[in-house]
Amino acid sequence: MRLAWLAVALVLAACSQDTPAEEPRSTLDADEVVSGYQFLQADTQALQDDDFANPGFLWVDQGEALFSNAPPQSKACSACHGEEGSELIGVAAHYPAMDEKTGSLVNLEGRINLCRTRHQGLAPLDYESEQLLSLTAYVAHLSHGDPIKVDISGGVSDWYERGEDYFFTKRGQYNLACNQCHNDNWGKQLRGDTISQGHGTAFPGYRLEWQTFGSLQRRLRDCDAGVRAEPLAYGSDDYLAVELYLAKRAEGLPIEVPGVRR
Ligand code: HEC
Ligand code: HEC
Repeated sequence: MRLAWLAVALVLAACSQDTPAEEPRSTLDADEVVSGYQFLQADTQALQDDDFANPGFLWVDQGEALFSNAPPQSKACSACHGEEGSELIGVAAHYPAMDEKTGSLVNLEGRINLCRTRHQGLAPLDYESEQLLSLTAYVAHLSHGDPIKVDISGGVSDWYERGEDYFFTKRGQYNLACNQCHNDNWGKQLRGDTISQGHGTAFPGYRLEWQTFGSLQRRLRDCDAGVRAEPLAYGSDDYLAVELYLAKRAEGLPIEVPGVRR
């Protein structure tokens, strides 16, 4: 497994060895932006498409129950956001976004935790906990099929640039940046995967390799570990910034949650 990554890393690194540091950053053309779904094998696509077989719906359904039932001595999400989340339809397609009250950027997980602490009098949920994954899956699924569109104006622009810098910075023992795989080599084979353009539209989603459901940041940690860099902590500012950068980069692609990936 590692050898295959290494082989590709060497090839990719060789291609970029002599390029000067100031080389313009390669980007995707707007008309070539496609979901990772397009690079999956037909049976994985079929699993995602079948609402009864797609294992991710276990998390969506758990999320719906958490959303609708009031925790002891507190209010249900649905008390403020409508039965069946009627007031939150389409909302997830615009995240990460600024929280007006604190002036800080939040992703969907962070937004849900703000409601827990600010409006429900509850403790925040841990990243990758079943409850937070389920609530995030449910709220994201309310935007299923909606095109991603995020605001990067004003104070958000610094976050966007931070995410972009992370995307173009080489790291790890293989000294590879995200763009070298997902901008420059998408469509090529790596370890039995076809490298996609690296969009986050399926997440939180179910990965067959995990045998479970996970967040976009878990996927990012896998990519960092893949180049043998130390993965960042869940909820770190850098990953939050990368999520924003990825959302802007994927603008127009529909939310697929719950996606299924290899
Ligand atoms: C050595 C190549 C490589 C590097 C470098 C890399 N990735 Fe990946 N990435 C992969 C492979 C392989 C997959 C799984 C197949 C695919 O592309 O969807 C993947 C998957 C993804 C996915 C999920 C795509 C989907 O549709 O399921 C995202 C998002 C992603 N990468 C983002 C990143 C980010 C952000 C970075 C930099 C921090 C990065 N990747 C660095 C190879 C790489
Ligand atoms: C007592 C009312 C209340 C409860 C209960 C509540 N929220 Fe909220 N929620 C709000 C308010 C008010 C906002 C607007 C931002 C703010 O003022 O914090 C908001 C914002 C949101 C947003 C962002 C909406 C947007 O347009 O960007 C999401 C998503 C959300 N809540 C999800 C949840 C979830 C999931 C739960 C349950 C875990 C929950 N909320 C519980 C009041 C509530």
